Amino acid sequence: MRIFNSTKEYGLVGKLFHWITFLALLAQVPFGFYLVGLEFSSERIELENIHIFVGITIFYFTLFRLIWKLISPSPSETKSVFKGQVLIGKANHFLLYVSILTITISGILKKMYMGETLNFIFFKYGFKKDNFILADVYYDVHVYANYLLLTLVTLHILAVITHHFIFKDNILKKIL
Ligand code: HEM
Ligand code: HEM
Repeated sequence: MRIFNSTKEYGLVGKLFHWITFLALLAQVPFGFYLVGLEFSSERIELENIHIFVGITIFYFTLFRLIWKLISPSPSETKSVFKGQVLIGKANHFLLYVSILTITISGILKKMYMGETLNFIFFKYGFKKDNFILADVYYDVHVYANYLLLTLVTLHILAVITHHFIFKDNILKKIL
């Protein structure tokens, strides 16, 4: 299997980026919803730290993924069945990246405005002053961006199913 993307399909690196992110999000989204329901305890703090560590890792991973996309451009779009199809596909992919980055950045800002110092793996950083109003705003952004992500992923999967079973253009082969 080739490392770089070709015009027809994703290479090994592109496939790994896609499926590792998929698995990480599959765990991280329900984990976040579970976390908010827990009573305050040392166990909750530990679980929150894991959520933050995984979230910051997803943030770096997405940045590396976008850099990789510049180095090795994505395969060309599958032939259109209807007008505007390519644009819809591109918009879906673009917004998926936007929602992942919004979730991670808002989570980071919420914690930092709470006055906490975060471990960014390569360094630690925190704001000098807290601001609980902004912390609440960024938390709302965190929650709504998660709903946006869930909507976009649902559309993304429905599109793949439509391509596979109705248009029969074997789009899945590009990423498997
Ligand atoms: C958390 C869930 C998922 C996310 C966030 C996600 C995200 C993405 C993104 C951002 C791209 C565009 C990659 C690029 O070229 O930059 C993509 C492509 C693709 N994804 Fe997903 N994906 C998810 C789940 C899935 C699942 C479950 C399937 C299969 C059932 C799938 C099938 C595909 C296919 C076939 C493409 C290539 C589409 C094309 O070239 O037109 N994805 N995905
Ligand atoms: C893609 C990565 C991430 C996903 C999918 C995600 C998802 C979620 C979800 C679904 C919730 C529950 C929201 C609710 O219903 O109230 C949540 C809560 C939370 N997230 Fe994230 N998150 C991610 C990254 C981060 C990061 C990077 C941070 C901080 C650095 C963070 C900090 C938090 C905190 C602190 C809570 C719980 C807040 C509380 O109950 O006080 N998250 N997350």
